[in-house]
Amino acid sequence: LYARQLAINYWGRVRRDPLSRLHLAEGRADPYRVYDEVRAYGPLMPTRLGNYASATHAVCNGVLRDRRFGPRAVAMNGPGAPGDEIDMSFLDKDPPEHTRLRRLAQPVFSPKQIAGYRPRVERVVGELLDRAAGKETFDLVSDFAAPLPIAVITDLMGVPDADAEAFAAHGAVVGSALDGVRSLRHAARLMAASNAIDEVFIRLFVLRRREPADDAVSRILAAEGDQIQSHELLPMCRLLLVAGFETTVNLIGNAMNAMLDHPAQWAALCADPAGLADAAVEETLRWDPPVQRTARCAREDVEIAGVPVRRGQFVVSLLGGANRDPAAYARADQFDLHRVPEVDHLAFSSGIHYCVGAPLARLEAGIALRMLAERFPDLRRAGPLRRRDASIIRGPLSLPLRARAMA
Ligand code: HEM
Repeated sequence: LYARQLAINYWGRVRRDPLSRLHLAEGRADPYRVYDEVRAYGPLMPTRLGNYASATHAVCNGVLRDRRFGPRAVAMNGPGAPGDEIDMSFLDKDPPEHTRLRRLAQPVFSPKQIAGYRPRVERVVGELLDRAAGKETFDLVSDFAAPLPIAVITDLMGVPDADAEAFAAHGAVVGSALDGVRSLRHAARLMAASNAIDEVFIRLFVLRRREPADDAVSRILAAEGDQIQSHELLPMCRLLLVAGFETTVNLIGNAMNAMLDHPAQWAALCADPAGLADAAVEETLRWDPPVQRTARCAREDVEIAGVPVRRGQFVVSLLGGANRDPAAYARADQFDLHRVPEVDHLAFSSGIHYCVGAPLARLEAGIALRMLAERFPDLRRAGPLRRRDASIIRGPLSLPLRARAMA
């Protein structure tokens, strides 16, 4: 009887709070219907834990740009204990720390640097596709989309070849933390992987202090003691690593999945890969973004869209929902490469925390889609897509494909 009561309570709650469905198979398969319900409720919907969620573009964008909100919880009873949260470098900080640290990372992604990475990304994509072409079927995720950002960031940060493999294996585990820690076992694996990554970075710091090179770590080290303190080095490097791993792989996975579900659009891309690849990336970012939500905490009592939000309450911005808001986009639910968007999508967030790695993500995904279309125009599914068991990060865990390669 007790178990039955628990089950009834659980289902009652799940039915009342649409957001709980994001953790069920139904919400995993199509979170966009959940976001529709949140939007239908109004600009802000109260959540079970006493916060708010929004799936409208105007409110999400407004809150993300609003300096009365910040990424971390405000301490309600005096200052919070230092060190009680993982240090996510500037992702979790407010100005002036945010501004100082972000300014240091920004040049790594400057237009000049990004243009310089293009040949390297093309080389990695070409090598991965050569290998895939030799197989009867290949997995878009494990054979292509996952190794690509790892190879690129390893190269960009200047990790020596000898450490690259360990770096890739452990980096993928650390990246899974973006969706939260699922169990004690997961926590233990994260800790071990994080320590192993730290060791690679610490060795790299020693090496690059001695012999600076033309890489991101050397550039960051050059500012040590000035713009960045020694204890801030590891969190900054970890952030640059983690933020680009699990996100870019899912962008490529979601893009290819959308293409396979829309054969006419795939045909259009294959007819003009160089002309349409970037548009395909942009429409995927809007229609099926890899990061589905983020949250901001009110630093003071505010009113948002007529709703009072108290100091300490969070507003969850459902980025995937904002990107499908019919008030912001015509035919919002349609995937359309030829769309001329009315407003910027929120896949990379908005305001001062707008993704600093966006130019690199766009470069990698654009080259990946272009070269896939050039070399495998008859690409088709070789098995069902398996989704990752996550609700913040959205993308395939596995996407088996079959292709006859073009010479
Ligand atoms: C921040 C998404 C790729 C580095 C963010 C945020 C989002 C995001 C939504 C803001 C979070 C918030 O507002 O709370 C994505 C997506 C990517 C991607 C969808 C790929 C498709 C990358 C790459 C890098 C990177 C390749 C670097 C190598 C960062 C950093 C921040 C950030 C450092 C913190 C920015 C700040 O707080 O000022 N990203 N990202 N991201 N991203 Fe990305």
